[in-house]
Amino acid sequence: MSNTARASRKILVTSALPYANGAIHLGHLLEYIQTDIWVRFQKSRGNECYYVCADDAHGTAIMLRAEQEGITPEALIERVSRDHQTDFSRFGVAFDNYHSTHSPENRHFSELIYTRLRDKGHIATRDIEQMFDPVKGLFLADRFIKGTCPKCKVEDQYGDNCEACGATYTPAELIDPVSAISGAAPEVKSSTHYFFKLPDFADFLKTWIDDDHVQPQIRNKLMEWFESGFNEWDISRDAPYFGFEIPDAPGKYFYVWLDAPIGYLASFKNLCERQGMDFDAYWGPDSDAEVYHFIGKDIVYFHALFWPAMLHGADFRTPTAVNCHGFVTVNGAKMSKSRGTFIKAATYADHLNPEYLRYYFAAKLTSRVDDLDLNLEDFAARVNSDLVGKVVNIASRCAGFVKKLGDGRLSAHCAEPEMLAHFIAAGDRIAEDFEDREFGRAMRKVMELADEANTYIAEAEPWVLAKQPDREQEVLEICSVGINLFRQLMVYLAPVVPAMAEGARAFLGLDTLDWESRREVLVDHAIAKFKPLMTRVERDKIDAMITASKEDLVEEQKLKATPKNPLIEEPIADQINIDDFAKVDLRIARITQAEYVEKADKLLKLTLDLGGETRTVFAGIRSAYAPEALEGRLTVMVANLAPRKMRFGVSEGMVLAAGNAEGIYLLGPDAGAEPGQRVR
Ligand code: 2FM
Ligand code: ZN
Repeated sequence: MSNTARASRKILVTSALPYANGAIHLGHLLEYIQTDIWVRFQKSRGNECYYVCADDAHGTAIMLRAEQEGITPEALIERVSRDHQTDFSRFGVAFDNYHSTHSPENRHFSELIYTRLRDKGHIATRDIEQMFDPVKGLFLADRFIKGTCPKCKVEDQYGDNCEACGATYTPAELIDPVSAISGAAPEVKSSTHYFFKLPDFADFLKTWIDDDHVQPQIRNKLMEWFESGFNEWDISRDAPYFGFEIPDAPGKYFYVWLDAPIGYLASFKNLCERQGMDFDAYWGPDSDAEVYHFIGKDIVYFHALFWPAMLHGADFRTPTAVNCHGFVTVNGAKMSKSRGTFIKAATYADHLNPEYLRYYFAAKLTSRVDDLDLNLEDFAARVNSDLVGKVVNIASRCAGFVKKLGDGRLSAHCAEPEMLAHFIAAGDRIAEDFEDREFGRAMRKVMELADEANTYIAEAEPWVLAKQPDREQEVLEICSVGINLFRQLMVYLAPVVPAMAEGARAFLGLDTLDWESRREVLVDHAIAKFKPLMTRVERDKIDAMITASKEDLVEEQKLKATPKNPLIEEPIADQINIDDFAKVDLRIARITQAEYVEKADKLLKLTLDLGGETRTVFAGIRSAYAPEALEGRLTVMVANLAPRKMRFGVSEGMVLAAGNAEGIYLLGPDAGAEPGQRVR
């Protein structure tokens, strides 16, 4: 089918709804950026495409968080929603609608789906026994119960599994269980729960999964679950709960995961109402629209089993596809708060251009479910080499000559029609890659074209020809080709780097960079004055972002330390047990550098080598030691102390010293100890 004959498709796209009790971080952003690129591509192709999302606003965690902050859940979710939307807009994630699961539309659809399922016999009720916190008057989810592991007897383990020995069990099996919320001993209490009868949909789901609605890796995982059999799904929670009360069941609320995906319908309905669109054309049983959910691999069960079954059972259409991605790692490891690699969206955007990240993610994304590593060295190198070194370079090399020799107008004649035709034709293959979510492949093709464009300009050497007055027209023609090639590249990059593309559009004097628009070659066309469209990634900005992320952790810990926080247990005695002691990570460290700290008369700034890892620690030992006396010495440090923000910088641990009014004596190991060794 030729592009001009292509009929516009109707497409609805969603990303997972973020919980309304925490900040957006880089792990979230992979999904929103992936989805937003795909949506922008669809819009560029002329399809009628809508991208909706919402905050996931219900559940116990949000209720407790609001209580901890001394505000209502409504006030909390309002504030978090504003923060989320600010973060999304800084990263160019452009929803057509951003709503909330705590909304009238969501209540309507939750009740409608529930009653339709109930009336068709897909809801069951039965009594279950659960742990109950008598002080808070709350049933306790497993993660809110702690106690001694029944198997290895290590204390302070969560209600469903032991971190020490890996055993799994029910909270009732824990020895001496306590509520992690109040510290009270929980009671076992029975109450009636409502269940969605998932096994009723086994045949439907088997066909649905086989029908190409999920990626092959996900299909395999789902098949494993199939073989182990489905259970009915507990969809109710007892009061007090922040959520929607079940219509025929006073005091019972829909479990947050029941109404969360329904939030996709609710947000779209809200958009339809505002814009006079037909909701049923997208969600009705006869819809010919396409519906795509982008999600992380951790929530497949909800989206590829419960959700299609609920929709089917309640006479809605089911999704065209559930597109799953993997997790983000940073520098090859899980994001870590203490290493400063647990990076919030806002912290990133305070230091670095969000479009760097959009490009880097795009360059590494495939249609598969693999994890994606953000290697910060590679990130800087790739953005600098590709976007700045290859793409922007084309425009910056050519723009000056067009201004000077053509008075800002491109030549009236295209000197390289074949090359232009080749760049235009490449757009069809690049479009296939975008369509298939093979963004990395698309970016490689775009950069190959950029290399060709740079080679053309380098070989033509307009800057050499420009020195010969009789060859000015030739120079203008070469540079006009360069600008046209740059324009093609920006059409292909626009879904990935929309802000840069907007700058390029203005520079090129065009109304649009939509996919089809590229077919018209620019001749005798006025362009604007060139401004740098993207600057290089600077290493010190990356370092500042890591430092700021460590500081974010300090702020969080301050909040956690408030006595109001019900999730942090108060110490009940002034003794500690062996497990408490084992939590302290004591290490041998070599002092590689010691310096005075300006305006701090008690402190020395120590640089410590922990056997490969370097830490900065501010120690109150200036009265006892001259810096040069310390360099090279071994000492003992607490290596897992949360970083503390001081006036002079962040202190990443503590060195151990004895002391009284007479003096301070730094501890040191006997000869033979090595930096990094654990002290026990
Ligand atoms: O895992 C999460 O962060 C959930 N808040 C995602 C919900 S997606 C959808 F079902 F609403
Ligand atoms: Zn154990």
